[in-house]
Amino acid sequence: MSDPTKSVPINSSEITPKDLYLSRRDFLKAMGIVTAGSLLAACAPKKPIQAANSTPAGLTVSQATDELGNALNSYDQITHYNNFYEFSTGKEEVATLSRDFKTSPWQVEVTGLVNKPAIFGLDDLTRLFPQEERIYRLRCVEAWSMVIPWQGFSLASLLKIVEPTSDAKYVRFETLLDTQQMPGANSPFYPWPYQEGLRLDEAYNDLVILATGLYGEALPPQDGAPIRLVVPWKYGFKSIKTIVKIELTADQPATLWSAIAPNEYGFYANVNPQVDHPRWSQSTERRIGELSRRETLMFNGYAGQVADLYTGMDLAANY
Ligand code: MTE
Repeated sequence: MSDPTKSVPINSSEITPKDLYLSRRDFLKAMGIVTAGSLLAACAPKKPIQAANSTPAGLTVSQATDELGNALNSYDQITHYNNFYEFSTGKEEVATLSRDFKTSPWQVEVTGLVNKPAIFGLDDLTRLFPQEERIYRLRCVEAWSMVIPWQGFSLASLLKIVEPTSDAKYVRFETLLDTQQMPGANSPFYPWPYQEGLRLDEAYNDLVILATGLYGEALPPQDGAPIRLVVPWKYGFKSIKTIVKIELTADQPATLWSAIAPNEYGFYANVNPQVDHPRWSQSTERRIGELSRRETLMFNGYAGQVADLYTGMDLAANY
């Protein structure tokens, strides 16, 4: 295996400066050419607007709703109702417990079955890959949901740079394990570090991003700073936080939740209102901030972009 400590060799021709990238987008829009990747951003009004009353002054996003017209959750809701077991199993105390979490300096190692393994500093990642806003619904397996305006970049763009070999079939992600800074990670009940995985073709789907910000600000620790995965058509537990390692593998990687309870948390974890969790229904959900429940949508409403990935698969067996 080659030395991952070598900095990644990237031709300047592979890097699209932000200005160029934006003008290319405007050009495509003007031509009426809207790719799946630019669909959300293409609807954005020119001037940023304030999205929610409880958003701290100064935080802006380009749209007040997702593409289905769902209002964004407030900054306060998104940052004070969190699942991050390395800090606590209590959703409302993660923000306080993670307040002093150190996110700089930070490195992400990309390794395994790739031609060009590399260790990226966080600055390398934000410089190399244009940051885009993506407004996504997050549907937690516990049957609550939120609408979140992320900033990030496509996972595919990072994978292309490291060049997965033909043997690579899966992508494995790993969270930092630091029991000094993360009190919950001292719990013996979980097989730390938190790890997750995607099939390689899922990982290449344009919806998948590595998020580094939300509401126009750097990602706060409780939401997975400095870098986390967001896979909007899967239950929230697939969207692993605070990533330090990404590994390309030939075999399906183990995941923390399927290691603990394989009959409850499958590898695929696609949002599916027809397949109940063994202990509760998945047909409806509670949007944080709303009183009445909503119908859960197949693939969390992203079927048009992802259903093809699962053609011929029994989604009740591959939950
Ligand atoms: N990543 C790590 N490392 N540890 C966690 O406990 N919780 C997951 C996911 N990523 C979790 C994690 C779950 S269950 C959900 S629903 C989402 O993060 C919640 O993301 P949010 O708190 O930013 O809304």
